[in-house]
Amino acid sequence: MKKIIAVANQKGGVGKTTTAVNLAACLAIADQNVLLVDIDPQGNATTGLGLPKADGDSNNIYVALMEGAITPSMIFDTAVDKLKAIPSTTDLYGAEIELVSFERREYRLAELIEKVSEQFDFVLIDCPPSLGILTLNAFTAADSVLAPIQTEYYALEGLSQLVKTISRVRDAFNPTLEIEGLLFTMVDVRTTLSNQVMDEVKNHFGELVFNTVIPRNIRLSEAPSHGKPVILYDPKSKGADAYIDLAHELIGRNSGLKGKRPDNEGAGEPEQESVTAVPSVENEDGFIQHIDL
Ligand SMILES: Nc1ncnc2c1ncn2[C@@H]1O[C@H](COP(=O)(O)OP(=O)(O)OP(=O)(O)O)[C@@H](O)[C@H]1O
Ligand SMILES: [Mg+2]
Repeated sequence: MKKIIAVANQKGGVGKTTTAVNLAACLAIADQNVLLVDIDPQGNATTGLGLPKADGDSNNIYVALMEGAITPSMIFDTAVDKLKAIPSTTDLYGAEIELVSFERREYRLAELIEKVSEQFDFVLIDCPPSLGILTLNAFTAADSVLAPIQTEYYALEGLSQLVKTISRVRDAFNPTLEIEGLLFTMVDVRTTLSNQVMDEVKNHFGELVFNTVIPRNIRLSEAPSHGKPVILYDPKSKGADAYIDLAHELIGRNSGLKGKRPDNEGAGEPEQESVTAVPSVENEDGFIQHIDL
């Protein structure tokens, strides 16, 4: 199994980086070889893994994009054995403009990742909060998009924009791009709004929504300042538990199994179809509309 997943949502601060870092770490702990590629100029995944954001240095994704090659020295070890990462740099802010002059500029990242992806079971790409050329490169390189969603009032609105973009990318650059799944993040199940939004998104997107829900958990927000995924910072926290569950759900979905942790109740339940539901969004008139992905 080799899967390239873009972690994306054009909305800022919804938990993309937290998900990319912690899912990557938990997949690696579940014995998968994982590469995390940080294409966000903010470089939060880079620092969250304790890697330096050495601007002007040559071992980062910006140089790879400009020179058209990932060298072995750009792939860094992390504190988790099977997790490697290619760091970002603030130089990447300039890439939006610099890439314009390249031929096949939307395929730049795809061509890079293709050359190294065989070494890995999962490649996760942490995207910036926009649908610009960097995210477009990630969508062209990826097999699927995992979209973290914060359970707030405008969640569905943002989702319809994301689904439209995925649809356009399928038409123009990457016909096999799928939605890996929608993931609720920073959930407080005690609030009515969280529950309402989750019900609404599930009604529209059905099985595309991950069963695993990421709770609001202070340990998840503390871990990056220690340069560690939560599984190393506080392995017993609710946040660590949730991302372990997500890793197992993802592995399970991709091998056609239920995807529960082996030690959890429910393991061995009947197999569940992987992500096939046709998503729908509400149009401007409030009607539900199926999106042909
Ligand atoms: N489940 C959670 N519980 C508590 N805090 C969280 C959780 N998930 C994320 N956070 C915190 O919320 C903030 C935003 O999260 P994160 O950086 O992962 O979002 P993002 O979508 O990557 O943001 P950006 O769009 O800027 O890249 C961070 O301070 C992070 O530590
Ligand atoms: Mg981020």
